[in-house]
Amino acid sequence: MTEFSRRVEQVSISGIREVFEAAGEDAINLGLGQPDFPTPGHVRQAAVEAIENGAADAYTSNKGTLPLREAISAKYDRDNRFSVDPENVIATAGGSEALHLAVEAHVDPGEEVIFPDPGFVSYDALTNLADGTPKPLGLREDLTMDPTAVEEAITDDTAAFMINSPANPTGAVQSEDDMREFARIADEHDVLCISDEVYEHIVFDGEHVSPMAFAESDNVVVVGACSKTYSMTGWRLGWVTGSHERIERMLRVHQYMQACASAPAQYAAEAALTGPQEPVEEMVAAFEKRRDVVLDGLADIGLDTPTPRGAFYAMPKVPEGWVDECIDRGVIVVPGGAFGEGGEGYARISYATGMEDLKAALAVMGEAADAVR
Ligand SMILES: Cc1ncc(COP(=O)(O)O)c(C=O)c1O
Repeated sequence: MTEFSRRVEQVSISGIREVFEAAGEDAINLGLGQPDFPTPGHVRQAAVEAIENGAADAYTSNKGTLPLREAISAKYDRDNRFSVDPENVIATAGGSEALHLAVEAHVDPGEEVIFPDPGFVSYDALTNLADGTPKPLGLREDLTMDPTAVEEAITDDTAAFMINSPANPTGAVQSEDDMREFARIADEHDVLCISDEVYEHIVFDGEHVSPMAFAESDNVVVVGACSKTYSMTGWRLGWVTGSHERIERMLRVHQYMQACASAPAQYAAEAALTGPQEPVEEMVAAFEKRRDVVLDGLADIGLDTPTPRGAFYAMPKVPEGWVDECIDRGVIVVPGGAFGEGGEGYARISYATGMEDLKAALAVMGEAADAVR
């Protein structure tokens, strides 16, 4: 057999999958990174209509249909403190592809990429796939990323730093002051800030603010997606936005690896972004109730958990052996080490699961804690 590329050999299949495989069929799965709600009916219907009337048969423009990019632009006017020209948007195959474009277009071999540790598994892998050098950065006690630590980690070889708020796997939300600092750092050090905002609407306390609102240069690119906000993980529709020059470079990658995002998904996403937003509010309200139940339950068990203020994850500090005891008892949680060395000694609990299952799982978590103490 021929040799594989060095790049691909540096990347392994996510540790999360191994956890799922270890669990039995009846397990309660608190390992999932996707909402447990249906995609709203009007969104599904928009795709059905686009398919039936033939609108989704052909390639769209590489960047995506203009009405979708206008809907994304209108979303920024409605929800965020900055405006986006529809010409400066590329619709992608989920936030995943958007992250890939951002890294691929900006990171040269050997250049460093700073990202949160524990952090979303793609940051390390995408850096390796671009032949860059991953620079995982430990977090504050509350599991947010410290702008001062980012600034100290920047070297002459740094191409980019990634931020993610609300965050996977921690549920942490960066403050407005932090975001202002991230923008300043990107401006002053002339490094790119890649802001992964796929959970932007799932915030319980405070407000999501993007560093894009404060940047004075064009050194911020923002990644967004319909996946989590509208419970559309299967549709594969996200986007990246940035300056004209950056979009033009990212489009070169997108054009050759993807051509365009799936057309039916683009029509669905347009309907999601322009239609009623109540389904989002209802989902976020349900997540907040569950978050409170999970936090109370973990406190009763005696597990110390930094309060997650967004997304749908909690990350308690857990005793050695606890994750395995949970999995043996039929509750899947993900060991924090799957998200980087900084996650060792923690576990990620996703509460994108119904309340009854959550309560049953908390009882099991208590037994698991008793078993290892
Ligand atoms: C922080 C973060 N960014 C990006 C993504 C990718 O999302 P998508 O499903 O839109 O590709 C995920 C998915 O879990 C995520 O947690």
